[in-house]
This record gives sequence, structure tokens and C-alpha cells, in this order.
Amino acid sequence: MGTRIIAIANQKGGVGKTTTTVNLAACLTVLKKNVLLIDLDPQANATSGVGLEKTPEMSIYKALLEDGRARDVIQATEYKRLDMIASELDLAGAEVDIARTDNYLHRLRNALADLKNAGLYDFILIDCPPSLGILTMNALTAAHSVLIPIQCEYYALEGLTIMTEIIRKLHQSGANPELDIEGIVMTMYDMRTNLSQAVVQEVSQHFGDKIYETLIPRTVRLSEAPSFGKPIIAYDSRSTGAVAYLQLAKEVIARCKAEDARAAAEESASTPPPAPALSPEVSSGV
Ligand SMILES: Nc1ncnc2c1ncn2[C@@H]1O[C@H](COP(=O)(O)OP(=O)(O)OP(=O)(O)O)[C@@H](O)[C@H]1O
Ligand SMILES: [Mg+2]
Repeated sequence: MGTRIIAIANQKGGVGKTTTTVNLAACLTVLKKNVLLIDLDPQANATSGVGLEKTPEMSIYKALLEDGRARDVIQATEYKRLDMIASELDLAGAEVDIARTDNYLHRLRNALADLKNAGLYDFILIDCPPSLGILTMNALTAAHSVLIPIQCEYYALEGLTIMTEIIRKLHQSGANPELDIEGIVMTMYDMRTNLSQAVVQEVSQHFGDKIYETLIPRTVRLSEAPSFGKPIIAYDSRSTGAVAYLQLAKEVIARCKAEDARAAAEESASTPPPAPALSPEVSSGV
């Protein structure tokens, strides 16, 4: 498996994008994957969520606008196998600056190109802001796929429809013809309410197998962990939130493996069988 770049996006605010990005990233490292977490949101919640400070010289802003190389702004976190490119407030103004540059949709894709080729990471996860502005579009242009967190509440489908429309446009315009939905994760699931169950059922009707079987429960521990600058697996590894995100990480890995296997099968089906080898008698000239 090469480096898989996944954007975690939903234009709706507060649906669990950052919670999912940080905790999925941390759980993937527990499963021995090397992960780079990129905070593309000026709110910088993912940055503080793994205990890093916002530092202007070491943020994604620099890679998007100045030297154009993501590699130069990577920071190690206190967690093994987890590296990060932080965000900072200036990123809010960056949209305007990026819009003035050439290739403004491809800034992130270009900044990540050499990292991707180097294959240092199994996963690059990008936490997107709650909008469909230039920053999110850069993430969607750079990514192989988009993972969409959906909060279990009314209007969940509305957000999904907008996301699928954007993906269609990115295909049509040629900006990212390969972009796929990695999966849909239902967040803040409350077993006790009929509403949560109804929302999951409704989303399943439209997006069937795209939905992960793992449902992320609504738990206080998940909302507490960021104030300690820790992913849930470090804050309370036995909590239901930690167990759920670990389960989600396993599903993500399993889907990637299945997709790799499918791609390999398709490739071998489309390549003609090799010509029969010469028999020893013929090749030795006897
Ligand atoms: N499963 C959960 N259980 C309880 N609280 C949660 C859960 N997931 C997220 N939260 C809380 O809900 C709030 C919104 O979550 P989060 O910041 O992850 O959403 P977001 O989509 O990244 O928001 P934004 O659109 O502002 O970037 C946060 O306070 C977070 O701690
Ligand atoms: Mg967020």
C-alpha cells in the first residue's frame, strides 16, 4: 500500500471532523501505521488536540504559500508514528492569498507531491474547515478520497448531498477525477434516542456500503480529551470512544486493503498473459 491521502470534510460545522481526524490518526498509529496529520483549519483544533502549539513558521500556511514544500513544516508529536503539520490563525487570510496564485486549487497537492512519492507515511489525514472554500477544495484536490463524518441529527442528508455534488464537480472539471468517498462515519450516536437510529437508517438507504459499521457514540470523554491536548486513546484508552475509534481505524485499514486487492485484480485482468517461456531445449539451442 502506498501513501493514502484522506480529507476529512463536511461543510457543516461541529459534526465531528476534528474529533474523527485526531482520533482516527492516533488509532491508526496504534495499529502500526505511520500517519501524518494535517490541520487545514484556521481554528487549529486538531493542532491543539494533539498537544502542539500554533507556531507561524511551522504551519501549513508556509507550505501553501511560501516555499511550497510540506516536508519542511512537519513536526513530531509526542506519539510514536504520528507526525503533524500544524495550523495557525493566519490561515484564515490565506484563502485570499492562495486565490491570487497560479494553480490555486493544486497548492496542497503540489506541496505534498514529494512526500507522497517518498512513501514515508501510510496515511495522510487532512482536517478540513467547516466550509467549501479554497482550503477545503485544496484538500479535496490533493486527496485520494474523502471521509465524511455525519452527526446523527436531522438534516444530516442535506450535508451529504452537497458533498456528493462537490465530488461530482471535481470529477467533471478534471481537478481530481479520481476522488472517491472513503466512507461515511456516523458520529455522536446516542443509542437511547430513536432519532440516532432513524438517521443511520436513512443515510444507509442512500449510501449503503459507504457507511462504516462502527458508530461513534456521544460520550463526554471524547469531548474532554482535546482540552488535555490528547487523543482519546491516550486520555482514556478503555473508554467507549477509544474503543470505537480503534474499531473505525481497523475498518479503514480493511477497506484500503480490499481496494488495493481489487485494483491489483483489475490490473492483472487487463494485462495480457506473458508469452510462454522458451523450453530449455529450445533456448539452449539443442
Ligand atoms: N462523539 C462525541 N461525543 C461527544 N462530543 C463530541 C463527539 N464528537 C465531537 N464532540 C464534540 O463536539 C464538538 C464538535 O466536534 P468537532 O470539533 O470534532 O467538530 P468539527 O466538525 O471539527 O467542527 P468544526 O466544523 O468547527 O471544525 C466538540 O466540542 C467536540 O468535542
Ligand atoms: Mg474542526
